[in-house]
Amino acid sequence: MADLSGKVVVVTGGARGIGAATARAVVEGGGRVLVTDVLEEEGAETAGKLGGAARFLRHDVTSEADWQAALDHAVAEFGRLDGLVNNAGIASGQPLEEESVEHFRRVVEVNLVGVFIGIRTAVPLLRAGGGGAVVNISSAAGLTGMALTAGYGASKWGVRGLSKTGALELAGSGIRVNSVHPGMTLTPMTAPIGIQAGEGRFPGAPLGRVGTPEETAAAVAFLLSDAAAYITGAELSVDGGWTAGLTTAHLTGG
Ligand SMILES: NC(=O)c1ccc[n+]([C@@H]2O[C@H](COP(=O)([O-])OP(=O)(O)OC[C@H]3O[C@@H](n4cnc5c(N)ncnc54)[C@H](O)[C@@H]3O)[C@@H](O)[C@H]2O)c1
Repeated sequence: MADLSGKVVVVTGGARGIGAATARAVVEGGGRVLVTDVLEEEGAETAGKLGGAARFLRHDVTSEADWQAALDHAVAEFGRLDGLVNNAGIASGQPLEEESVEHFRRVVEVNLVGVFIGIRTAVPLLRAGGGGAVVNISSAAGLTGMALTAGYGASKWGVRGLSKTGALELAGSGIRVNSVHPGMTLTPMTAPIGIQAGEGRFPGAPLGRVGTPEETAAAVAFLLSDAAAYITGAELSVDGGWTAGLTTAHLTGG
């Protein structure tokens, strides 16, 4: 378990799924966490289960005003800010020709513009505490092309690129910026794809199964921790080998 003693972290989209698992990992590692989300009931319940080391605030990542309020709230409640996990996201799952311009824009607004506003707003607060860590949740779809993900894939490639820019520009302020790239992971986002029905089997990943939110959360917690002090601008895949390349089965058509 990553040691996050004394650290204060904001996790967006933390009401459920990977965000909720990450909030739990922060508290289990000895840190304190502000869980934010647009889902008020679920968010309050998730934070409530984590006890006094957690708070919840409604926060829409597309709103600049919400961002300022959320990060100020973290500092008001816990006295400082050490980490930001840009996890909130929405999916797209239709062929490119069927994706509306409106939906494409919305996906990019939440998944990419939201991350940009978050980093921009967090920098002065992280700097005030002597530095910190930003972890941006991209996707396997931000490392390789993926059918049916026009808006989603574009936004996740954008998150990967934005993470590099942040890493380069903020290193001098002691702020590390990395991206995490989950593969197929069992959460409410993927439930409509029906992966639950397959009892977690996922032949697309060489390890043969889907991932759990906790497995991604462990990688995020590591990147937030001082154990990752020399890691910035990196891409960490948590995908069972999905994006590593072609398997023997691929090469032999099996
Ligand atoms: N589940 C997967 O297989 C998978 C794979 C790769 C990447 N990801 C990424 O991981 C992250 C978490 O996804 P998840 O699988 O836990 O899905 P999820 O749907 O369970 O969680 C996403 C959370 O983001 C919140 N959210 C959506 N729009 C928001 C907004 N405008 N402001 C604030 N919060 C908002 C939702 O309410 C939800 O609680 C996402 O960025 C997703 O793209 C997931």
